[in-house]
Amino acid sequence: LPKAKGYNRSYYFYQGFWCPPSYFRGLLSFQKHFQAFDTHIILATLPKSGTTWLKALTFSIANRHKFSLQDTPLLNFGPHNLVPFLEKLYSENPCPNLENCSRILSTHTPYASLPPSIKDENSKCKIVYVCRNPMDVFVSHWHFVGKLRRPEYMEQLSIDEGFEMFCQGIHGFGPYSDHVLGYWKASQTNPNKILFLKYEDLKEDIVFHVKELGKFLGFPFSKEEEDQGVVEEIAKFCSFDNLKEMEGNKNGKSPSGFPNSVFFRNGVVGDWSNFLKPSMVEHFVKLIQEKFDQSGLTFKFS
Ligand code: A3P
Repeated sequence: LPKAKGYNRSYYFYQGFWCPPSYFRGLLSFQKHFQAFDTHIILATLPKSGTTWLKALTFSIANRHKFSLQDTPLLNFGPHNLVPFLEKLYSENPCPNLENCSRILSTHTPYASLPPSIKDENSKCKIVYVCRNPMDVFVSHWHFVGKLRRPEYMEQLSIDEGFEMFCQGIHGFGPYSDHVLGYWKASQTNPNKILFLKYEDLKEDIVFHVKELGKFLGFPFSKEEEDQGVVEEIAKFCSFDNLKEMEGNKNGKSPSGFPNSVFFRNGVVGDWSNFLKPSMVEHFVKLIQEKFDQSGLTFKFS
């Protein structure tokens, strides 16, 4: 397989996307062996699009009759510890016993490369995808990789170099446009199976989206729960400010060995304006026009 120098490591170019090496072996086993259950909920994202938030929300909604917000495992464990990445799960064991795993699972794999059993029309498993505008994804990704870089042997990567690579599609599970469009198109043809969300819409009205998620996943909120403010409580619990202060997020480590705190930076829409030069913005606008023009998908940037 061809390789390209990534931010701080080499990515593999595989099935049209750039796979981080730490995911690659697990990805192959996941593709080959995963058999979806009808009860599975698959959270799919491009890194830095709101995965951590979506995991916390889905976990809270689906388990709300099992755990109250006073005794939820989210108080002590990070969302990535509770909702595993399938590629990681399958890298530890090529055939894990899914009966013993969480029913909520996550993946960064592009839609076209998902195992057939997830996409099978007869499978009732659900997919939730969260998309974020490309400028914030890029800025978030650049910071994330910078935080994880080991200065003793990694060279600093300027924002210009990072931008250049992002534009070439060389970032974890990139190119951005292929990843987003793959799930977007699939959600248009199969809206009962795939819920396509936008990070910016969640920021704008999280209460509405918590209800939508509940409905879509088969855990609708009753009138009584709504009257008691359960939806608002979940939304507040999973907010950036609250979640980042949880013990598991302040001091815990993700299954990949990263401190969970690196998944929380500032969690806003529009931080790109503090980092991108006008020429970079111009490029992103052009990219969106070229790649998304006919798709019906639009983005919010502030
Ligand atoms: P920023 O770097 O822009 O702050 P992912 O979880 O896919 O890795 O994405 C991480 C991004 O989501 C980071 O964005 C992070 O701060 C933000 N994030 C994490 N938890 C969040 C939450 N509860 N609400 C909103 N944004 C959140």
